[in-house]
Amino acid sequence: MEFNESKTKENLARAFAGLCQDGARYQFIAKSAFSEGYAYISDLMVRFAKNKMAHASTLYRTMIDKINKSKDNVKIEAGYPFEDHILKTSLLDSAEIEEYQSKNVYPHFAKIAKDEGFLDIEKYFSLIAKVGEENSLKLRFLADKFENKSLYKREQKTKWICSNCGHSEESKQAWETCPLCNYPKGYVVIAKDTKTK
Ligand SMILES: [Fe+2]
Repeated sequence: MEFNESKTKENLARAFAGLCQDGARYQFIAKSAFSEGYAYISDLMVRFAKNKMAHASTLYRTMIDKINKSKDNVKIEAGYPFEDHILKTSLLDSAEIEEYQSKNVYPHFAKIAKDEGFLDIEKYFSLIAKVGEENSLKLRFLADKFENKSLYKREQKTKWICSNCGHSEESKQAWETCPLCNYPKGYVVIAKDTKTK
């Protein structure tokens, strides 16, 4: 099928717009997290935002390579989430958004791309879905720990690492202030439990 007549062209534009919105939302959450004292979560959200923009960049380049050279805008009709970005709710909201996108939106787009014969775009949609699934699990884990006020506590001894200086200790609970750099607990790396998928 000719790309400019395809549904995949529209889906590519919808995905690009959605990824830009995701990237913006993660940057907003990063700011909230930092202002609330969760520097490591803030860094993680910045990384997620960068990931989204990298995905957006790949799709943008793909569009540029395939689209006809007329300057007509690509028209899309799509819905995008506008969730609050306070940390208390945004971790779970984002987990649900990532899960919905990775289980529904991108697999649907990938199937259409395959049916229309755009296997390179099918691959991109599938790979983006895979990253989204991982993000969803990480965000759900953080949301759960945040809700239970157990971000920095574990039942078993755990290796805690300071994201500022690299200091690490094994204990059931992270330090209040890093003994090496004196940065607060918010800089501690919150690793997923080994039992958590
Ligand atoms: Fe430190």
